[in-house]
Amino acid sequence: LENGLARTPPMGWMSWGYYMCGVKCEDAEDKCLNEQLILSVADSFYKDGYQEAGFEYIIIDDCWSEKQRDKNGRLVADRKRFPRGMKYIADYIHARGLKFGMYTNVANITCMRYPGSLSHMELDAKTFAEWGVDYLKVDGCFVSEAILNGAYIELGKYLKQTGRPMVYSCSWPYYIEFIHQKNPDYEEVARYCNMWRNYHDVQTSWDAIANIVRHYRNHYHELAPFHGPGHWNDPDMLIFGTGVLTHSQSRVQLAVFVMMSAPLLLSCDMNKITPYEKSLLQNLDLMAIAQDPLGIMAQPYHVTDCTLWIKPHLPRKGDQFPSYSLALMNLDSDASYVSFRLSTYNLNATDGYTILDVFSGKYTRNVTYDDKIEVTVPGFDVILYTLYPL
Ligand code: GLA
Repeated sequence: LENGLARTPPMGWMSWGYYMCGVKCEDAEDKCLNEQLILSVADSFYKDGYQEAGFEYIIIDDCWSEKQRDKNGRLVADRKRFPRGMKYIADYIHARGLKFGMYTNVANITCMRYPGSLSHMELDAKTFAEWGVDYLKVDGCFVSEAILNGAYIELGKYLKQTGRPMVYSCSWPYYIEFIHQKNPDYEEVARYCNMWRNYHDVQTSWDAIANIVRHYRNHYHELAPFHGPGHWNDPDMLIFGTGVLTHSQSRVQLAVFVMMSAPLLLSCDMNKITPYEKSLLQNLDLMAIAQDPLGIMAQPYHVTDCTLWIKPHLPRKGDQFPSYSLALMNLDSDASYVSFRLSTYNLNATDGYTILDVFSGKYTRNVTYDDKIEVTVPGFDVILYTLYPL
């Protein structure tokens, strides 16, 4: 969507992955979706270095409202969990230079059966704008295919009419493909939405991550043409801070998302992010790959038992040739030896390249396009290089 927003993939935090509905606050205080949680994420972004690394949007997912609209038909924030309302939260977030996101669905109820926007699109768009919302995630549960297409376009029109810039995040193609069993019209989706979900909800497990990674690898040719500034494929949230990934598995999830130029949305208690995970999220060489202005989705190639993802970057000032990032990813448990030449993939800078190992932060060696690069990639791991032309 050409609305001037999401020129690089959005980065932030979203409640659903870890907190899910988060309404049982008496029984499970640590899984409660409430004002205190949202403000604590804003504080953490502001104080703990995430904002400097690029994390910006704080998004409240499903289950934030009362079950009934008010007498004027307006959505009302849950009075117990959000006692000061959403405008208060937006102001708090904005005062820290961050941005605020919310959630609705194109049916008359949300996926968790809270009020949805189908019969109230204009009013809801206005309400979100008045509250100071900067990003709206719009789900597609419980409607027919015919309604789905029209509803995403119509809601987008009302969002635009408010005059408030809001990133428009759609689940549209996911529902077309996996619920209605049709091929999504990605050209249309990219025209109306800033980002869109393509695949199932992430779960907090390595298997879920591996499946997501395989999905984007296997559908690269279908998805890559529609991916770029203002319009992004969305593989769903990172599962950092949930304790389920080993160090190397967390490298794999983050490296693939970064190489894809995917949105990077955390979903966890920010205090549970380990020092190692934090060092990855705040690795500026890594975030520079994710936020490259060209926003090109890395292309996957099969090399022995690994996938080699290659992503071209905007050339540095004065460089004649582009820089590239290369990720050698191994989704199996056994280590894999790979060997390749850059020229095979048309990396042909005349004087060769210098290699930055992104995870160690070290410049390892210089190579020509014809040198053999040989690497052993451990099981469930990834090696990530950025190559700058010499
Ligand atoms: C769907 C979406 C999730 C989340 C839930 C909320 O499953 O895909 O990301 O928003 O609905 O109910």
